[in-house]
Amino acid sequence: MAIIAPSILSADFANLERDIRDIENNGADWVHVDVMDGNFVPNISIGIPVVKALRPVTSLPLDVHLMIDRPGRYVEEFVKAGADWLTVHLEADQPQNILDCLDRIHALGCKAAVSLKPKTPAEAAIPYLANCDMVLVMTVEPGFGGQKFMADMMPKVKKLRQLLDERNPACLIEVDGGVDGETCRVCKQSGAQVLVAGSAYFKAPDRAAFVKTVQA
Ligand code: DX5
Ligand code: ZN
Repeated sequence: MAIIAPSILSADFANLERDIRDIENNGADWVHVDVMDGNFVPNISIGIPVVKALRPVTSLPLDVHLMIDRPGRYVEEFVKAGADWLTVHLEADQPQNILDCLDRIHALGCKAAVSLKPKTPAEAAIPYLANCDMVLVMTVEPGFGGQKFMADMMPKVKKLRQLLDERNPACLIEVDGGVDGETCRVCKQSGAQVLVAGSAYFKAPDRAAFVKTVQA
C-alpha cells in the first residue's frame, strides 16, 4: 500500500487547522508541508512558526519539504518545530553541505530525504543514497501547486529504485507534483511509495475515496 501525503500548499491558509484535521479524518498518512524562500524557487510560502503551530494539531507525521537555498542554516529549527521527515534539495548547496545536512537531521532524531528537481538526473543522487531515508523526485518544477504532471520523470524513478536496491533498499521514493487519481498509477508502477497530492486532494469531491485510490 502506498503512502499519501496531501500538500497543504493547496489548503485554505485561513483554515489550516480545519484542513489538517480533515487530512487525518480522511485516512491520509502524512501531511506534506512546502517551505519556499523566494530564492531557490520563485515563490514564498510558510516557515518554522507554522510548522510549530501545526505540530499539536495532528498525530500524522509532518513531511517538511524545504525548497530553500543552503538549507543547513535551518534544519535544527525545523526539526525542533516538529518535522518528522525533512527533505533538502541536492541543488540547494555544495555536496558536502548537503551530506552534513542529512547527518545533522539524523542526529536530531528526524528522517532525512534528498530531492531532485526535474532537470537533475538520477545519478546526481548517488552520493547521498546511503545517507537518506527517502528520495523525493519532483514531477513538476518546484514552486507552485496545480501544475501538469511530468510523466517523463518516471524513468528517473525507476532508475533511482534500481540504484537504491543496490545501496539502500529500505529507502523510500516520494513523488511530488501533479499527482492525481490517474497519474498516481504510473508513479506506483515505477516504484514510488510515497505520493504527494496538493490540488488533486483538495479538489476531490470525495477526499476519503481519493485517499483510498492513491493508497491502493
Ligand atoms: C510544488 C510542491 C508540491 C505542491 C504539489 O513545488 O513541492 O508539494 O504542493 O501540488 P500539486 O499536487 O497541486 O501539483
Ligand atoms: Zn512539496
